[in-house]
Amino acid sequence: MDLCFELASQIMSRLGTAVTTIDEVHGFKYFDDRDLLGFVDGTENPTDHDAVNATTIGQEDPAFAGGSYVITQKYLHDVKRWNSISIPEQENIIGRHKLSDIEQQDSAKAPYAHNVLTTIIEDGEQLEIVRDNMPFGEIGKGEFGTYFIGYARSPHRIEQMLENMFVGRPPGNYDRLLDFSRAATGSLFFLPSATFLDDVSPEDIGITPSSEEAPVDAERRGADPSDAARRHPPVSDGSLGIGSLKKKANHE
Ligand code: HEM
Repeated sequence: MDLCFELASQIMSRLGTAVTTIDEVHGFKYFDDRDLLGFVDGTENPTDHDAVNATTIGQEDPAFAGGSYVITQKYLHDVKRWNSISIPEQENIIGRHKLSDIEQQDSAKAPYAHNVLTTIIEDGEQLEIVRDNMPFGEIGKGEFGTYFIGYARSPHRIEQMLENMFVGRPPGNYDRLLDFSRAATGSLFFLPSATFLDDVSPEDIGITPSSEEAPVDAERRGADPSDAARRHPPVSDGSLGIGSLKKKANHE
């Protein structure tokens, strides 16, 4: 918590007036890596080489190799409602046993189980992601949530999982977790590699020589930050505005 707090604070002071905070959520680790629905979360995450392979952009997109994508969503749970159903019903929704965290037999899983709908196999290969979900909440407000954080080498596999969860596979066979939990936010970010950041030039990201000075540099030399912000107006559609770097769209 201390390191995360300090890092966020350092980043925000560097970004200065170039960004506006819309939402701030501080997550925490809960018993046995459980979410606030009481299930262990993260068990099936790939590890070691498999984790790198699931999350790192490779030669399918050479200009961005070494980078990654992350999708985040803030889910708010109706914990009272969740706790009003039986544990076997909860287990059928997740596809695992609650106390032991042991996976249900495939033949025993409900077709709508969370771990059925989020398993994607394409061309004989399972398309995995690495999840780093964090529980969060405020008891006094009755807020209980899961901050979903999913990393992947292409957004496609996470978007496919979301489609299976929300629309259903087949359509209508949706994820029953969503009867108890709703996504309040959702964002997709490209995560550049350190090498990419070292090599990128201002022109690459649409900064012309006349407006070369970044807001952070202007601030460092004591200029009025709002002056820099005026010369670098935020991109109006809310995107990071680096899409033009992409020579061609790449999908898995
Ligand atoms: C309310 C939000 C969510 C909660 C509480 C939740 C919770 C869980 C739990 C308890 C498991 C079983 C243990 C494990 O393997 O980690 C699981 C598995 C999984 N979840 Fe979620 N999840 C949520 C949202 C999502 C979303 C939005 C995605 C993807 C878009 C996702 C993808 C997965 C995947 C890929 C697995 C592993 C499936 C397998 O291979 O068995 N989850 N989740």
